[in-house]
Amino acid sequence: MRKGLIGMLVVLALVFAACSESTSTDNTTATEAPSGGGDSANGELLYNASCIACHGPNGEGIEGLGKPWVGSDFINSNSDAAMVAFLLVGRPSDDPLNTTGIAMLPKGGNPSLTDADLQDLVAYMRFLNS
Ligand code: HEC
Repeated sequence: MRKGLIGMLVVLALVFAACSESTSTDNTTATEAPSGGGDSANGELLYNASCIACHGPNGEGIEGLGKPWVGSDFINSNSDAAMVAFLLVGRPSDDPLNTTGIAMLPKGGNPSLTDADLQDLVAYMRFLNS
């Protein structure tokens, strides 16, 4: 009787492990595909349309408008996922991390950018810093 109960618990544990494993595998695939797979060429097009006015040609920055992307420790020390998360919120002028006193708006002020677009922009940041 007790043996049967333990056996059943083991089976339940295995079923649970199998389920949670397949769920986490699915999640990994879903988050990894966009995070590793940004399209830098499309990112450049998006950059030229939405970011270049402040961040300058080739991401070199424009004094008084936007910080350089090239050589940015912030960009180079954060993961792709963290950079996308940053772009979703931006950096208000009163944020302690803000160094210029000028706000970086969420999505650079272009609300129509999708998560995939942001991922492509991050790929372009990586390209500029490679
Ligand atoms: C209206 C001007 C403006 C536009 C347009 C703009 N930014 Fe910014 N961005 C800024 C400013 C100003 C900062 C720096 C804020 C600070 O002082 O920390 C910044 C900072 C950043 C940073 C952090 C850089 C670092 O080293 O800390 C990233 C990344 C960034 N912007 C990405 C983008 C992207 C992507 C777009 C286009 C979708 C964009 N920005 C459009 C003004 C702009």
